[in-house]
Order: sequence, then C-alpha cells, then structure tokens
Amino acid sequence: MTRVFSGIQPTGHLTLGNYLGAMRRWAEVDQHRADSLFCVVDLHALTVDHDPARVRRLSRQTATLLLASGLDPEVCTVFLQSHVDEHARLSYLLECVATDGEMRRMIQYKEKAAKERARGRSVRLSLLTYPVLMAADILAYGTEEVPVGEDQAQHVELARDVAVRFNQRYGHTFVVPRTTLPQVAARVMNLQDPRRKMGKSDDSGAGVVYLLDEPDVVRKKVLRAVTDSGREVVYDRAERPGIANLLDILAACTGGNPESLAAVYDSYGSLKKDTAEAVVEVLRPVQARHRELCADPVYVEEVLRDGAEKARASARPTVDAAYRAIGLLPPVTEPSLSAVR
Ligand code: TYM
Repeated sequence: MTRVFSGIQPTGHLTLGNYLGAMRRWAEVDQHRADSLFCVVDLHALTVDHDPARVRRLSRQTATLLLASGLDPEVCTVFLQSHVDEHARLSYLLECVATDGEMRRMIQYKEKAAKERARGRSVRLSLLTYPVLMAADILAYGTEEVPVGEDQAQHVELARDVAVRFNQRYGHTFVVPRTTLPQVAARVMNLQDPRRKMGKSDDSGAGVVYLLDEPDVVRKKVLRAVTDSGREVVYDRAERPGIANLLDILAACTGGNPESLAAVYDSYGSLKKDTAEAVVEVLRPVQARHRELCADPVYVEEVLRDGAEKARASARPTVDAAYRAIGLLPPVTEPSLSAVR
C-alpha cells in the first residue's frame, strides 16, 4: 500500500486554502487508498516569534479540525509531531547532508525572514533549518507521496534531494518521496490581494476565509473579494487573478472545472454570490463536527496518544537504520563480552 504523509502547522487558524489545497483530499481520497499519516507539526510553529499558550491552543484546535474534516483514526494515523522523537532525531542527521546554500534558496525562508526583520525581530536559526525538519517528517516514514498545496512543493523537492544524496553516500535508506497536488485550488489566493497566497498568518483576516468563520462572515468576505474593473467572466490567472481565484474556489467546492464555470457566469456579482454559498456549504459539516468534537476533548486526546504510538513504531526502524548507515554505533543494550570481563 502506498505510504502517504502530510503535515499542517499550528501557527494560526486554519483557512479555506489549507482545506481545499490539502485537508479535504487527505480525508476524501488519501486516507482511503493509502497507508497515511497526518501530523500537526507543532515543532515548526516555534520557528518564528511565538506565544507558548497560543501554540498549545492552536495545536489542539488543528488536531480537532483535522478530525472534523473527516480524517478517521480507524483508517489513518493522526498525531502531534512533538510526541514522536524520531522527527528531531532524524532532522539532525539530515542537517549533516543538506547544505547551507540549499536552505537559503527556499522561498518561504526568504519571505518569512524578511517579515521577521521588518518587524524588528531576529530570525531564528530554526527558520533556516525548517525544511530539513520537514524532510525528516517525510523521510522517517518511508513516504512515497506527499499531498500538499503548491507552496510546499519546493520543500518536498528538497526532501527528495536530501533522500537521494543520503542514499548515494551511505547506502539505500530512504524512500524518495514525490509531491501530489490537487487538480484545482492548489494555491488559493487572498481575497483582498489575489496575487498573494491565502495564509493563516496573514496580517489582516479580511481576505482570508477561516474554517471556523460563521456563514455570514464567509459571505461578507467572498462578496467583498477584490476583482478588477472588467465585466466579462474569464479564467485568466495572470490577467484576472481575483476572478480566477473565485472560479478556482467555486470549482473546488462544487467539483467543477474553473474554465467551464467561467462560461456559465455573465457577471461578477452572481459568481461571487454562488461562490460564497458554495464555501458556506463546504464548511457547514466541518463546523458541525468540530462543535461535537469540542464537547469531547478526551476523545481527541486519545486519538493523538494512539496516533503517536503508531507513528513512533513506524518511524523508529527507518531512523535507526539512518543512524547506523551514517556511521554511528548502535547503543549497547546487553553487556558485551568485553564489559563482562
Ligand atoms: P501549512 O501549515 O502552511 O499548510 C498546510 C497545507 O495546506 C496547504 N496550503 C494551501 N493550499 C492551497 N492554497 C493555499 N492558500 C494554501 N495554504 C496552505 C499547504 O500547501 C499544506 O499542504 N511546511 C508545511 C507543513 C509541513 C509538512 C511536513 C507538509 C511540515 N512537515 C511534511 C507535508 C509534509 C506547512 O507549513 O504547511
């Protein structure tokens, strides 16, 4: 069975981008056809200035929303990254394989480091090495496929490069993973600035639909989406990014195709109205399930405990093999003959 791994950071409230680009596919497709693991990558949330209480709160909320989106712990593994030591253990080895130049080329590093500096904050070293931890997340599980949105493709490429290099130098240890992208909505854009990705850490929430936004808030945000001064509804991501974004969202929510949907509409207003209603309908069951799960926090904790146990058992042999391959002696578990003598 194909091994699938993906992760999500508890750095903010989850967005429609997270859902359409990644989570929905995990729940509707991946968990049923593959041996899959989905991880709340809480260690990654410490790479920029953070508030410990908020990270704890968001980690719980993110895990709850993963279950609310339909992940079923009977068929997949859901867990918190920090509960499985193998991630950090492997990350260090991969730091000895990846290069400084590779890290500095990462687009997200450049963007996030610039943002931290603009806020007068120093840049944490972990922000630079973050893609190596992400590679460790993936490689520890013998992952073949990594279902992510487009913004994470560069990081998965790096994981591939590191896996290939490690295998060439130290003998075959890791499966070389590949990215899988959704057919539509691989990059949902900010509704107020459609040339920018819709992100959970965006400064203003006006252009971001959060999974827990009330229906009326969703409607308001979509109806106020920035478009352009044209009138004709055409699907052109370069020239009409606002309209293309709405068509992508509508297509992803209704299972349609953005180009053919463009032909159906003769005004921006009706496109916005239908898109708003489609988003409200997609979020409705997730929000309802989220309310139920919030009433049963013990269940969520049990899922995470069992998930971590399964994940640990799955990662351990690969990470141990990497320790041996790179030249580290195994710890002695029984007294050796020389020690007895
Ligand atoms: P994160 O937490 O930013 O996002 C989680 C997932 O949501 C996708 N996504 C989007 N897709 C489409 N449009 C958007 N606007 C949008 N915003 C987010 C992301 O592509 C991602 O799939 N580094 C990762 C987390 C991670 C990870 C991993 C992923 C850590 N280790 C190992 C896969 C495998 C991140 O920051 O995702």
